[in-house]
Amino acid sequence: MPWQDPDGHERLLDRWPEQSPDGLQAWDAADEYLLQQWRTAALPAGARLLLVDDHWGALAVALAGCRPVSWGDSHLGALALAANLRRNGLPADAAPFIPGTDDPGGPFDAALLRLPKALEALQDTLRRLRPALGPGALVLAGGMIKHTPTRAWRLLEQYLGPTPTTPGWKKARVGAATFTNPDPGPAPAAGTYALPADGLEVQGGPGVFGGGRLDGGAALLLRHVPTTDAPLSAADLGCGDGILALALVRRCPRATVLAVDESYRAVACTAANVARNFPGGDAAARVTVRVGDGLNGTPPGSLDLVLCNPPFHQGHAVADSAAGRLFEQARAALRPGGRLLVVGNRHLGHHAKLDHLFGGHELVDGDGRFVVLAATRRD
Ligand SMILES: C[S@@+](CC[C@H](N)C(=O)[O-])C[C@H]1O[C@@H](n2cnc3c(N)ncnc32)[C@H](O)[C@@H]1O
Repeated sequence: MPWQDPDGHERLLDRWPEQSPDGLQAWDAADEYLLQQWRTAALPAGARLLLVDDHWGALAVALAGCRPVSWGDSHLGALALAANLRRNGLPADAAPFIPGTDDPGGPFDAALLRLPKALEALQDTLRRLRPALGPGALVLAGGMIKHTPTRAWRLLEQYLGPTPTTPGWKKARVGAATFTNPDPGPAPAAGTYALPADGLEVQGGPGVFGGGRLDGGAALLLRHVPTTDAPLSAADLGCGDGILALALVRRCPRATVLAVDESYRAVACTAANVARNFPGGDAAARVTVRVGDGLNGTPPGSLDLVLCNPPFHQGHAVADSAAGRLFEQARAALRPGGRLLVVGNRHLGHHAKLDHLFGGHELVDGDGRFVVLAATRRD
């Protein structure tokens, strides 16, 4: 989609995946407001700039001339960034991407930060960001007003320093923090929950789905995770804290399990939960945990079973097509006769997507909110 950035340059920007049927644009007024405020801040040429959670690369494309480093939690965001640099004729290294769970390097003189929707994620980002900032560094943080609780600005003050905010513009707001605060206090403890019947204890992570509590949909799906001594090649598609993969490993002693998520935090959280529940044993060796765009790259026809509690939000916009895409990938990765087990809110209509892709579905279970559906690959 064409975009005129605040400097008047014509750009081309898309989300990932490209040409998604949702037709959602890859930038918003908060990106534009951040760019305007960056211009007025007038930092000296050569200032080292970090972009934090730049959703689809709009900030990176507009500021490529400053040679920023892009640091974020989303693998889909990283794929969009690479594609958007390419489609604007910019070199791949114009804004190198570093996963948010890694050290971004530094010290940086300034950062432009897109406020995440979860405050725990913001707190975690700020805690990791601090060591990467030079003294007095400027952090411009922006978000859409309706998605930015007052507490977000308080967290910026707590973790960074004084953060005056701008008046609203096109329903967006920016805060300008100066990094002066030496001690934000200890990091909050992550929540944990147990599944005594499976002998599992799961720790949540900041910004990871569930927030340290068992999701109602996952709980319903867990009732149908098989127990078998037979060899099984399975995947937990969109693993979050890893609960479905952990249950599979526990209940199926000969299963190999791929746990994949597009969020670096989720993958780190799952890996930590595998280590916590299967310390050093053969069970841990049966799980592969990796960041990825769903099952892209998984050999076609290689899986017996896919478990999926799919996302239904992309940022704040409902992006139901994300679930349909994951089901399509699951179908391709399953062997003929292999099964996809899905849980979702009743109203989402996943059954229609399964009918379209698999030629039918089975209603396995349901409660007031969720349904569990199964589909079998026939050919
Ligand atoms: C509803 S949560 C389910 C988490 C966990 N499986 C559970 O049941 O509690 C959906 C997960 O899918 C991940 N996700 C979204 N799009 C993805 C994609 N294209 N590839 C891999 N994971 C994705 C999200 O990051 C999120 O962790």
